[in-house]
Amino acid sequence: MPTNQPTNQPTNQPTNQPTNQPTEYVFQTDWFSHNIPSLDIIFNQLKPTRILEIGSFEGRSTLHFMEKMSEYAETIEIYCIDSWEGGLEHKENWNMDTVEQVFEHNMHLAIQQFPRTTLFKCKGYSHPKMMELLVEGKKGYFDFVYVDGSHEAPDVLLDALLAHQLVRVGGVIAFDDYLWSPKSWNEADHYLLVKPAVDSYVNTYQRKVSVIQSLPTYQLYVVKIAE
Ligand SMILES: C[S@@+](CC[C@H](N)C(=O)[O-])C[C@H]1O[C@@H](n2cnc3c(N)ncnc32)[C@H](O)[C@@H]1O
Repeated sequence: MPTNQPTNQPTNQPTNQPTNQPTEYVFQTDWFSHNIPSLDIIFNQLKPTRILEIGSFEGRSTLHFMEKMSEYAETIEIYCIDSWEGGLEHKENWNMDTVEQVFEHNMHLAIQQFPRTTLFKCKGYSHPKMMELLVEGKKGYFDFVYVDGSHEAPDVLLDALLAHQLVRVGGVIAFDDYLWSPKSWNEADHYLLVKPAVDSYVNTYQRKVSVIQSLPTYQLYVVKIAE
């Protein structure tokens, strides 16, 4: 599978995967599974079929979304935006070229397992990629947007504003790591946190969003109620 996939091209095309690749999913870490109970509650009610994911890494969250949607959806679309350069917190410890290859490997298997899925790999920074989707006419196109890319507040703030444009009224935006902090909260540098950015979005868009109150808030889930 080419690693420099043209923007927004489906990856469920015949590929040239080497035959000596492992035939099982490969994951080197798990930053996702603890969120599944809350996300499944949202999916069981919302039943999204068009998802935008900001930050795919090795595809663990992507795979879960495909698996969950396949329980009810005839056709599934999932758009994966990632620079595959890593965020600040990844740059030292991860070889992001390997991470991208693992994503390719996992998605190659996932498309075979869930063939009703069309998967779009959008390699690049989230802001220009999300703007490209808007230019393509995808305003209000998505049922669910999963924001798990950069954790720097200015990046998250624009991710949130663009996600608001891309999700439909009634759809949900999920912000991973809303309560994450690399330092204790009284020493935290707000520039490096998700929460201040998400709070700015939610406070500014007060008339247009509703925070789901009934779920744990390590992630924050926001329903778009107006354009
Ligand atoms: C925490 S990982 C995503 C984990 C994944 N959602 C999961 O649960 O398995 C964050 C990803 O966001 C990507 N990323 C960081 N900043 C980004 C940016 N500004 N634009 C696009 N992707 C970015 C990184 O390359 C990394 O792969």
